[in-house]
Amino acid sequence: MKKHIVLLPGDGIGTEVTSAAKTVLAAVAEEFDHTFTFESKDIGGIAIDNHGTPLPQDTTEACKNADAVLLGAVGGPKWDNNPSHLRPEKGLLGIRKELNLFANLRPVRGFSNLLHASPLKREVVEDSDLLIVRELTGGLYFGTPSERRNNGQSVVDTLAYERSEIERIVRRAFEAAMVRNKHVTSVDKANVLESSKMWREVVEEIKQEYPEVVTEHMLVDAAAMKLITSPTQFDVIVTENMFGDILSDEASVLTGSLGMLPSASLNEKAFGLYEPVHGSAPDIAGQGKANPLATILSAAMMLRHSFSMDVEAQRIESAVKQALDLGFHTPDLDIQDGHEVNTEKMTEVVIDLLKTDTTTSSIMSC
Ligand code: NAD
Ligand code: IPM
Ligand code: MN
Repeated sequence: MKKHIVLLPGDGIGTEVTSAAKTVLAAVAEEFDHTFTFESKDIGGIAIDNHGTPLPQDTTEACKNADAVLLGAVGGPKWDNNPSHLRPEKGLLGIRKELNLFANLRPVRGFSNLLHASPLKREVVEDSDLLIVRELTGGLYFGTPSERRNNGQSVVDTLAYERSEIERIVRRAFEAAMVRNKHVTSVDKANVLESSKMWREVVEEIKQEYPEVVTEHMLVDAAAMKLITSPTQFDVIVTENMFGDILSDEASVLTGSLGMLPSASLNEKAFGLYEPVHGSAPDIAGQGKANPLATILSAAMMLRHSFSMDVEAQRIESAVKQALDLGFHTPDLDIQDGHEVNTEKMTEVVIDLLKTDTTTSSIMSC
């Protein structure tokens, strides 16, 4: 199969982890006789520096013409004091909106060899396997532009949703639950927010279409607590943009590192932008310390969701699991008696395992 993939490395460790995932995708293409072509475009801070805007037209066009997009991360201290329209983050929000990527799937799964890498107790983390379905193109992030202002004395951000925007993301969550453990937790702040009241109404309506699914509502503050005290009670969590952003970084603690969480940002069809949950990590950028697994696992999600290449996606996921089982890890993961390696070596290990598809590869001797 021929596929054209646009790479948006962005800033900081974004370039390191995207390069790692590209190498993995190239290895998959070779193994399975596919042709993947790659094209890199600027987004975020690098695009501000090179083109004077965080989202050049040329980048948007290239993404629209691609079969899928893989993004690293945007942002960094260099641009932190820029005016709002010249912030790297605007580029990411812009491309999500342009491509109508309203459904952000963030799976959180503990790998067995990382159970003790989490600061949480093993018995709390063990068997946790959840999916955060985050609304990605509405809510506070995209408040009504005419109402968004800051005159130095007063400031306004608006949280707006169309009913149809809530319906489509809630439906996506129920669809996901149907192929998982048939449990949806809708997270909101319905005791305070008007938007959350509508969110609850919509969930109550749509759940009628999925009688097999057990549905519950949970307030976001309590959900934040339960996520790390009893994570195994969750299967699919569906929530609005800002709550999903915060809860997913929190959920990464279950896996031992933010560098482990992949994501898929999808439109109504199978088109997607695949992106790790983490940011540009300026504190470790350029040092070879970045964990590439979140982006490599995002590439696996690309194969599954956009290209229907389930076997290929599984091959990547099982190579990642084997690499961790063999004790290989980047410095962000605290694995006892493991082999601490840099970004490049971690990627090489995954590729070697992917090619041999067996735990008894030459890597054992490293
Ligand atoms: P961050 O996610 O970049 O980093 C938080 C912490 O996690 C840091 O200590 C970092 O070193 C560590 N970390 C993150 N990813 C890692 C990885 N793959 N391997 C090892 N360690 C990793 O969040 P931040 O520091 O709050 O934000 C830095 C910049 O990134 C900001 O400009 C922010 O806006 C941006 N950001 C971008 C995205 C994105 O592009 N999707 C997401 C989040 C933050
Ligand atoms: C994420 C990031 C982004 C978000 C920022 C960089 C705009 O934190 O992808 O989780 O909040 O959506
Ligand atoms: Mn985030």
